[in-house]
Amino acid sequence: MVNYKDLGLVNSRELFAKAMKGGYAIAAFNFNNMEQMQAIIQACVETKSPVILQVSSGARKYANQTLLRYMAQGAVEYAKELGFNVPIVLHLDHGDTFELCKSCIEYGFSSVMIDGSSHSYNENVELTAKVVEYAHKYDVTVEGELGVLAGVEDEVSSETHSYTQPSEVEDFVSKTGVDSLAISIGTSHGANKFKPEQCTRDENGILVPPPLRFDILEEIEKRIPGFPIVLHGSSSVPQDQVAIINRYGGQMKDAIGIPEEQLRRAAKSSVCKINIDSDGRIAMTAAVREILATKPTEFDPRKYLGPARDRLKELYMHKIINVLGSVNKG
Ligand code: G3H
Ligand code: 13P
Ligand code: ZN
Repeated sequence: MVNYKDLGLVNSRELFAKAMKGGYAIAAFNFNNMEQMQAIIQACVETKSPVILQVSSGARKYANQTLLRYMAQGAVEYAKELGFNVPIVLHLDHGDTFELCKSCIEYGFSSVMIDGSSHSYNENVELTAKVVEYAHKYDVTVEGELGVLAGVEDEVSSETHSYTQPSEVEDFVSKTGVDSLAISIGTSHGANKFKPEQCTRDENGILVPPPLRFDILEEIEKRIPGFPIVLHGSSSVPQDQVAIINRYGGQMKDAIGIPEEQLRRAAKSSVCKINIDSDGRIAMTAAVREILATKPTEFDPRKYLGPARDRLKELYMHKIINVLGSVNKG
């Protein structure tokens, strides 16, 4: 058993309290490999922004649990070496069992999500409360979820979504003891969040997706004032990067994300954590495709992963400065 505090990590409690007061959100960026981790830390040091390093169960299998523990510790030391000791949370994204949450806590995670949203309400309460009871013994913070997001990914999949019911949130929060709550108000996972026929077109012919359900968010805020809310599925799917992917042999069709101004609005509310994974995948893929296509003789991975890392860093800095507002909050 390794305690996250010995790795130099923090849990999310104080970060969320400050974000709530300050009207900004903390970035939760998913990572699976060294280049993504380096890009996240470089961006956060440069912007003096706190960050949640987020690992899905698929990412944990991909990278290996022991390596991840040392990578997180390395991230803390790397930030210091770059000149700013940013607060770093190591968080399990979409934990689906008590055993997985327990194992992550034993391997140095400072925060876990138990996603019981595919279960019945009562089973979700029971599972979440069990994880909270265990996690709080080690001062690890817990995110629960009410409502189901649409979208299909490796291990996070749901064909349809159902919005969070505000009438359930007080009961869920008080019965489980969770530290934050992920809600469903119209975001979804992946790069194809909406079908074109669900969208309207602006004056330039650009597809505009249906707005997030801020009315549901406001109702939730009324019922649990000051309680940290989490938004999953918050990639905006940058169209310039999608165009690069498609120009250089990729086939991303009808990729549509959440407009950034909607996320800016959410970040000013009680939304304290915004999850972004797909945008990073898209930026990295665009850079790799572009380089491999324009420099066909190149075969040194550093020559395409290095620029991909730079493009990721640029993306993360943009999110921190222009969307989340967490710049200089570290
Ligand atoms: O919400 C899910 C994350 O984007 C992680 O996706 O399970 O493919 O690692 P993954
Ligand atoms: P995106 O697919 O929109 O990046 O969402 C990521 C996420 O919610 C991770 O939990
Ligand atoms: Zn998610």
